[in-house]
Amino acid sequence: MPTVLITGGCGYIGSHTAIELMKVGKLDVISIDNHHNSSPEAIDRIEAIAGKRMKNYAIDACDRAAVQEVFEAHPDIVGVIHFAAYKAVGESVEKPLEYYHNNFESLVNMLAACEANGVENFIFSSSCTVYGDIDKLPVTEETPTTEAASPYGNTKLVGERIIQDFIKSTDKVKAIALRYFNPVGADESGLNGEDPINAPNNLVPFITRVASGLLPQLTVFGGDYPTRDGTCIRDYIHVTDISIAHINALDYLLDGKNSSNYERLNLGSGNGVSVLEAINAFEEVSGVKLNYVIGDRRPGDVTQIYSDSSLAKEKLGWVAGRGISEMMASAWKWQLNLNESRAAQEA
Ligand code: UFG
Repeated sequence: MPTVLITGGCGYIGSHTAIELMKVGKLDVISIDNHHNSSPEAIDRIEAIAGKRMKNYAIDACDRAAVQEVFEAHPDIVGVIHFAAYKAVGESVEKPLEYYHNNFESLVNMLAACEANGVENFIFSSSCTVYGDIDKLPVTEETPTTEAASPYGNTKLVGERIIQDFIKSTDKVKAIALRYFNPVGADESGLNGEDPINAPNNLVPFITRVASGLLPQLTVFGGDYPTRDGTCIRDYIHVTDISIAHINALDYLLDGKNSSNYERLNLGSGNGVSVLEAINAFEEVSGVKLNYVIGDRRPGDVTQIYSDSSLAKEKLGWVAGRGISEMMASAWKWQLNLNESRAAQEA
């Protein structure tokens, strides 16, 4: 059966994409994930929801020989979705060489493996971070990219450039870079969601941990921004919507609908939501009053960013259907499930 290889298939977006791919059922799904920031339990969760077990190779995507063995074991691979990467902005400032080594080496490796093994279709996880702090909103794919504010951001910006240069050099591989805005939420079943091994840096996992008493308090980073309520504005997008966009993007390449061999697409909802609005949405759907304070600004945060995703609609027939309440409700359902299963494990 034609097979799609996901790197980072046990991670947050990778595991949700595996579920959606399995639900569609056209392609077999295999994964490479060394569990650097993911749990092997993700494989059980995927199976519980999708009814199929994903074969995961617990190898490093930087290990060329091991990656080659996977390609040789699966001659039916028709596409690669490359999620695996280090992704913590703050950590990347402290450990730039680790970020550059891991994110570039794995990307180069996967591209080379595609070319060497006749795999024509490649999807890359990029980020709205490539746009930096931009005044003209919403951002389209024509919005110029700016110098990255962190080594992490640079791995996305330069990563896109690496793909672009590679695609120019070969007619054997086609690629799409998907620029995610702020993916949040969990599978609607509440059985799979974000489960970082490292402490959460992002807003929604922080909110759900504070609400369930695992963390004492949320600090809203800055209440004096020039926005409608003084807090930063982001374009939150449901992880299931993001996952479906990957399936559409892969189909688009497999069906030869691409207009060039390298394209980049924004994946956002188009709605700007402030931190306080996100907190209110959470409180409404959960019925939990969140313990938070307004604190200092976080260095490196942009004031506001949201997407114009009309190109993804035009090319992939994709729109982000799930709103902020659905995102928060699913994230909360997942957190409650996680709390319950962790408590059962400890008992
Ligand atoms: N926030 C808080 N308190 C927290 C955590 C976050 O107030 O404890 C705020 C942030 O200041 C920001 C919003 O919630 O206004 C969202 O923050 P996240 O950390 O969840 O997400 P970011 O917008 O910072 O991250 C996104 C992408 C990254 C990318 C980054 C670039 O997820 O991939 O933008 O700025 F690198």
